[in-house]
Amino acid sequence: MSIRYIEETKQLILETKNTAYQMKIDELGYLQHLYYGPKLGQNDMSYPFRIYDHGFSGNPYDMRQNRAYSLDSMSQEYTSFGVGDFRVTSIRASCSDGSRCAEFRYEEHEILDGKYAIPGLPSVYDSGQIAQTLIVTLIDKPANIRIKLYYGVFEELDIITRAAEIINAGYEIVWLRKACSMCLELPFGEWDMIHFHGRHCMERQPERVPLFHGVHSISSGRGMSSHQHNPFVILCDREATEDSGVCYGVMLMYSGNHKTEIELDQFDCVRVVTGLSDDRFRWELASEASFFTPEVILSCADGLTELSYNYHRVIRHNVVRGEYKLSHRPVLINNWEATYFDFNEEKLLSIAEKAKELGIEMFVLDDGWFKNRNDDNAGLGDWIPDTRKLPNGLESLIAKINDMGLRFGLWIEPEMVNEDSDLYRAHPDWALTAPNRAPMMARNQLALDLSRREVHEYLFQTIAGLLEKYNITYIKWDFNRPLADVYSHSTPSPRQGEVAHRYYLSLYRLYERLTKAFPHVLFEGCAGGGGRFDAGMLHYSPQIWCSDNTDAISRLTIQYGTSFGYPASTVGAHVSASPNHQTGRKTPLRTRGIVAMSGTFGYELDLSLLSDEDCEEIKEQIKRFKEIEPIVHDGKLYRLSKLSDSAHYMAWQFVSPDQSRSVLNIVVTNPLANSAPVHVNLKGLLPDEIYSVNGEFEVLGSALMQGGYTFPRLTGDYPAMQLDIVKIG
Ligand code: DGJ
Repeated sequence: MSIRYIEETKQLILETKNTAYQMKIDELGYLQHLYYGPKLGQNDMSYPFRIYDHGFSGNPYDMRQNRAYSLDSMSQEYTSFGVGDFRVTSIRASCSDGSRCAEFRYEEHEILDGKYAIPGLPSVYDSGQIAQTLIVTLIDKPANIRIKLYYGVFEELDIITRAAEIINAGYEIVWLRKACSMCLELPFGEWDMIHFHGRHCMERQPERVPLFHGVHSISSGRGMSSHQHNPFVILCDREATEDSGVCYGVMLMYSGNHKTEIELDQFDCVRVVTGLSDDRFRWELASEASFFTPEVILSCADGLTELSYNYHRVIRHNVVRGEYKLSHRPVLINNWEATYFDFNEEKLLSIAEKAKELGIEMFVLDDGWFKNRNDDNAGLGDWIPDTRKLPNGLESLIAKINDMGLRFGLWIEPEMVNEDSDLYRAHPDWALTAPNRAPMMARNQLALDLSRREVHEYLFQTIAGLLEKYNITYIKWDFNRPLADVYSHSTPSPRQGEVAHRYYLSLYRLYERLTKAFPHVLFEGCAGGGGRFDAGMLHYSPQIWCSDNTDAISRLTIQYGTSFGYPASTVGAHVSASPNHQTGRKTPLRTRGIVAMSGTFGYELDLSLLSDEDCEEIKEQIKRFKEIEPIVHDGKLYRLSKLSDSAHYMAWQFVSPDQSRSVLNIVVTNPLANSAPVHVNLKGLLPDEIYSVNGEFEVLGSALMQGGYTFPRLTGDYPAMQLDIVKIG
């Protein structure tokens, strides 16, 4: 049993293989948070909380009885606004009388086998690990609002999930102004925060900062989880490294506006509140109605490597679904950086022919294949093949590509519309635009109002139509602008604060319907590269295009940052041309191959421009990727070098789950003259077993881990090397 209730102390205890989580119903019925961290015995973890006079703070007691009690200094499981707790809160509700205070006390709890699901939202599912669920119900009696706090415990994975359901049990409307998924408190210790910020073409750059007093806010109001702030935050011990130190991960499984607030308060306690962003959020909760928050995936581990591995496993096995979840991902050629909008059937077929010759398995036709789409000013919304570029139709192109022995994939951007399109001309009110204002453009396009039923249905029929008509086995689903003027022309004005979230409820349902109806299609998410790279999207698309920056050296840091939360099998990575189109940098083909092999593998360049030597190398790369794919996708990742200005190389290693095989990668980003050779200590091998290193010599696992491996001198422009470490016998 991973969940227990101890009646005498009124403790609720969640346990995973290596961690424990404790809460307690206190004498006034508040649900106190006591502990989350490395596993401990039966201890009641309320003992470290000392009693001080908090007479100056809000107190629900009769003060003469207990001056020490205050919600403002107490660790809690879910926190509310307007009741004397002045820190960041999980919920802010306003009642019909205008009051904005609600305080939630314990009503009941239940422990269930299996993992709860969240209606309409993606959530972690049980795939045989035998998860358990705890539901604690809290109630604010005066307003008749109930909150059910959901906890999913995955013992073997060291994962705890959380979500909340808010129920209006009264007769009057309640307005939710903030409805977060959870509150997590770290009442003791000194913590660093690692978050993943960025921009288009430079996503998920890790930044580690010590917490200072006040509120740190990691958020997106862009209508997408965003290039700027990934909904994943790590809190770790000041001394924590890749190998040791307590580390907590807080990952929100949501793709729209989000906010994680981390407050270091007056008593040096840390509170983390995460969930939907409250900016512009206002949800009408009618009598008897329920509101479900998105899910948060929590993990606690000793060291950053272990923490990442916990997330990699849960995402790969319990978030991603469908036929491609654990299977080989086709090596693809995408024509975007080869042709952009400028192609015809002949050009595409010449790329496909060459691709087949090299061992590539799938041809992906990117943007520009539909009517009027010669640049990014027109066409989105009209998903009808362009007969000028494809005079024989899409069907004939696909048939010819299939005849070569290649599968066919297609790019679409269904959520968008150009003003210059038949769809917009017919239904201008289907776009999200504010009344009586010029629409806010981004990439010359508007977003469709997915919160409208008819838009949802139109998109389902359009995409299903394409998938039924053509032999398409892969869809790249793009999304190339943030949502700015989020106004729905079919929603009454007091409820406009619901539109941004309703958009995502509809998008998730659309994806759900399509993935159910077309289980053989592999979906790859994309949003101007990695602008919607989150666990919510991964529930529907097993892989996501990681960045529009395909430069191998930039990708080192993008993929490094991404690896803290997401497994390599989710990272869309391609070999592109040199000089690179985004940075102008020249890199060797070998380096580009090694970097792209740490994801789902493909190519995105004009293959007809390659030399014979390059073609031979590509054939080898494809063979090599297929060989190491199971180690890269299922294995444990060790980041052997840190990202820092002084680093002149990047090294990373994958180890198969049975520790019998490992792949070690290095890219020298700044070759130094007359320097000590690059030397790394390997990790994760079996110390007493003998391994062959690249077939060149044999050595004990312990030697490679303690004595390390010295690379030969690697010189020139961004040289790279990949080593094979194989257990003998
Ligand atoms: C942005 C994507 O990230 C690119 O790969 C490409 O598909 C373009 N959109 C096409 O417009």
